[in-house]
Amino acid sequence: MWDFWRRHKRKVYVTFGVLGSGYLLYKLYDGHKRRLSDLEREHADERRNEELIRSQIKDHFEKIQTIADSTTLPHVMRYLSSRIEEQLDLVHLTGRLMKGKDQPNSLTAAEKLELWDTLKVLTFTRMVLSLWATTMLSLYIRVQVNILGRHLYIDTARGLGSSIQLDEADLIDRDDEQQFLASADYLTNVGLPTLISSFETATSEVLKGKQLKDIFNTTVLHDTILLILDTFLSMGSPHQYLGFFMPEHSNLYNSAATSSSGSTEPSPASKFEQLMLEARAVLSSSEFENILDMSLKTAVDVMMEDIRGLCGETNLKLGIPLAKLLPRLAHMSRILLGEPNRNRYIQVVQDMPEVEMFFTLLYASTPAS
Ligand SMILES: *[C@@H]1O[C@H](CO)[C@@H](O)[C@H](O)[C@H]1NC(C)=O
Repeated sequence: MWDFWRRHKRKVYVTFGVLGSGYLLYKLYDGHKRRLSDLEREHADERRNEELIRSQIKDHFEKIQTIADSTTLPHVMRYLSSRIEEQLDLVHLTGRLMKGKDQPNSLTAAEKLELWDTLKVLTFTRMVLSLWATTMLSLYIRVQVNILGRHLYIDTARGLGSSIQLDEADLIDRDDEQQFLASADYLTNVGLPTLISSFETATSEVLKGKQLKDIFNTTVLHDTILLILDTFLSMGSPHQYLGFFMPEHSNLYNSAATSSSGSTEPSPASKFEQLMLEARAVLSSSEFENILDMSLKTAVDVMMEDIRGLCGETNLKLGIPLAKLLPRLAHMSRILLGEPNRNRYIQVVQDMPEVEMFFTLLYASTPAS
């Protein structure tokens, strides 16, 4: 045996060597293959995970959109409409004028003139204000939805990084979402009186000297509406519309929860405040100003179409006396503030390619903080 060993030592070593390195190569190859398939499996897991997250984000985003479209916007519009109806009451004025017609002695000529003059200013005020408010709300709700969607995306991605269970991911608190969306009522709750008086001032100035017998045709009406809007916009500071949608300082929000403890955890109130700050940043941007400007112009064009329809196409082209035009314009503001699902002003603005592009970019951007 030893003899054999001594004689074939070299051969044996070589043989084992060959076998060994073959085995080693095989092991290496096998290990590599296994690593490859492990990697592939990991990739597949990751892909599945990503897909799951993406579909969860999509589901949740759609849920926010649905809440905004089916609950928030209709509620906000209904509330705004009833307050405008209340504070710019044309029925009462018209009633007094009708009574004056039935009982010729109940109003002096001067009183009658003054009533008509008020009716003229309030009718235009209500119509142009309704147009502005509907356009602005339609955009504002979209701003909110996209800010919420952006938060949702960032929070979910962060949750993934620290391998938190998906359903435990730090999604935005539903209360904050609701509170944030509900803050669109600020316009009606706080902003409305100032908004009305601003539009009233602008309208009085533009309509000064316009008589009830003056003939309004399509061109004159269109120019008058644009002039009222321009006068309103040039009266305040740049971005004055911000003041109608949110308080000047963030500490005016209900922020009792922020001061309650020394905890460094962001409290629900401060998260809501952060959402509001982001909304403020978007509304203050020049891009938003451009979008608002474009949207208002489009809305005015759509409104002219509707008014032409209400008056009869040829009538308005040839021109009708202002006194006869007023009841149609009064009706127009009711159309402008109608239920969102049947309100084409909301849809027209949201379907504009520039508006869609603006919101796509907003959703994809990182919040300025
Ligand atoms: C409308 O009326 C104005 C002034 O009365 C006139 O200058 C203008 O040409 C008219 N427009 C049309 C389309 O008839």
